[in-house]
Amino acid sequence: MRKTIIAGNWKMNKTPSEAAELAAAIAQIQGAKCEVVICPPFVDLFYAKKAIEGSCVKLGAQNCHFKESGAFTGEISADMLIEAGCEYVIIGHSERRQYFAETDETVNLRTKAALAKGLKVIVCVGETREERENGITENVIDRQIRLGLKDLSKEEMANVVIAYEPVWAIGTGLTATNEQAEEVCKFIRGLIAKLFDADVAEETTIQYGGSMNAGNCAALLAMPNIDGGLIGGAALKPADFATIIAAGSAN
Ligand code: 13P
Repeated sequence: MRKTIIAGNWKMNKTPSEAAELAAAIAQIQGAKCEVVICPPFVDLFYAKKAIEGSCVKLGAQNCHFKESGAFTGEISADMLIEAGCEYVIIGHSERRQYFAETDETVNLRTKAALAKGLKVIVCVGETREERENGITENVIDRQIRLGLKDLSKEEMANVVIAYEPVWAIGTGLTATNEQAEEVCKFIRGLIAKLFDADVAEETTIQYGGSMNAGNCAALLAMPNIDGGLIGGAALKPADFATIIAAGSAN
């Protein structure tokens, strides 16, 4: 049975002291029957880690470089994240693709490097509004998945989570309908079956992300191919995040 994973992507929000406070509030959430992950900014990781100690909440980061160390100003390595207490890392978020020249090739390099060090990787894919309107959503997802997961082994796939995040739904208040989200998540599972095998596809957690909130989470998470959420804005509000965790625990 694949895991349901509810992950909060805090993006560029919260100073270390604010992060400690938010992480402590999330650590208080009771009754989670799914995996709960928080992904604060790098400088917050130590403080967040301390705040979630003793709870079931896991720590993740929002990016990781593919080299072990060296002259890569502004980047961070897998070893650094692991020592800071991370178990997960988000790779290839659309904001990194849009604003920081992330490509399918660098997503693949980062993913492989993080997996080699033992991190679990949340690989993000998703089409823009223009791509959806032009009817090429599946072509875009197909390319992102094929190139992003290139040369990964079936064993490595056990530590890969896919997050389907339609770019047009991120931070816009526009959510994909349950059917639109399910359709693409199902397509992704079919593609994983083709690229790896049916067992890998069956075991891979596929999250939806894009304006998931306390009001719409239950219906999205009830869809058969949606195994969790990658949550931005609502992950910064403990009460809303708790509602989403409860919905994730019900499936
Ligand atoms: P919002 O939930 O704020 O739309 O962000 C989604 C997202 O990008 C999570 O990675």
